[in-house]
Amino acid sequence: MKVAVVGATGMVGEVMLKVLAERNFPISELLLVASERSVGKKLRYQDKEHTVIGLADAVAAKPDIAIFSAGGETSLEWAPKFAEAGTTVIDNSSAWRMDPTKKLVVPEINAKELTKADKIIANPNCSTIQMVMALAPLHNAYKMKRVVVSTYQSVSGTGVKAVKQLENEIAGVDGEMAYPYPIGRNALPHCDVFEANGYTKEEMKLAREPQKIFNDKTFSVTATAVRIPTSGGHSEAVNVEFEKDFDLADVRKMLHETPGIILQDNTDTNTYPMPIYAHDKDDVFVGRLRRDETQPNTLNMWIVADNLRKGAATNTIQIAEYLVENKLV
Ligand SMILES: NC(=O)c1ccc[n+]([C@@H]2O[C@H](COP(=O)([O-])OP(=O)(O)OC[C@H]3O[C@@H](n4cnc5c(N)ncnc54)[C@H](OP(=O)(O)O)[C@@H]3O)[C@@H](O)[C@H]2O)c1
Repeated sequence: MKVAVVGATGMVGEVMLKVLAERNFPISELLLVASERSVGKKLRYQDKEHTVIGLADAVAAKPDIAIFSAGGETSLEWAPKFAEAGTTVIDNSSAWRMDPTKKLVVPEINAKELTKADKIIANPNCSTIQMVMALAPLHNAYKMKRVVVSTYQSVSGTGVKAVKQLENEIAGVDGEMAYPYPIGRNALPHCDVFEANGYTKEEMKLAREPQKIFNDKTFSVTATAVRIPTSGGHSEAVNVEFEKDFDLADVRKMLHETPGIILQDNTDTNTYPMPIYAHDKDDVFVGRLRRDETQPNTLNMWIVADNLRKGAATNTIQIAEYLVENKLV
């Protein structure tokens, strides 16, 4: 496969390259693409040096697959140009996620929907991916009615500028601010921009994307998204009400047996998911499973995953692997 990584110099781009190499993705030619600022810069992939190129040169090279993580505006402008050149684009930004003509894919849940005609495929939001991974087997068994989620999100989810802001604050040096306030020793109930309804865009992604992924509008999700000074992954407290009642032991067994999920749920040994464990891992970690004693058929759970891995790069590359394995590119 001739593969272009658009946004190769960014936080997600760097992890994309790492995951492509780890999973031995079949690459015959690799194109590393970023903004004009980075053209000519050298990046290493599997001990080989590559020179960063611009978007126009990358389209002209007609790659088989282009993996985008370069922001929504770049995707809106350039993904259609790649698609016209015959390239299949897998996009990490929010640009195409809710477009009814584009698929929104978590491979473990809905990769089967993909066809050769899908030239722009959307990767869901990082917080959505880890939540739906844990909810999928439970939704199948008990049918979700309503989900209430509160997130505790890593600064790595905002990009390099935010990680630098936290590092600067810890080192006590002045620098560029990614957030309107300090993030060290703080919690910002403000992820992405505010929408007219008073929710943030991140909160509305959590509300809208799961219905599209499950192709089911019979349940609803409400969210509060909070940025905290951690860098290893996103955490989520999820309260989910089902139509059918459940047995907690069955829930544990189901999650334990689900590929991509690691159950860490033993209060006797203080075993529960945390970003320091999830960091740099591809799995979604689930624990603190307990019945909500205030309402029937309702479960509380804690979900943690590395937002740059399963929340972005790993999910994207799993989509690419599915396309290759099923001869869809
Ligand atoms: N961080 C996460 O957890 C996460 C998870 C899921 C999805 N995403 C999405 O992935 C994208 C990138 O996020 P990030 O965290 O990697 O951000 P980042 O660290 O700021 O990196 C941004 C990347 O995009 C490139 N870029 C920016 N403007 C460009 C342009 N006009 N043309 C070409 N390339 C351009 C940058 O190139 P230069 O170095 O040349 O500026 C850089 O490679 C965003 O859309 C984000 O929403 C992020």
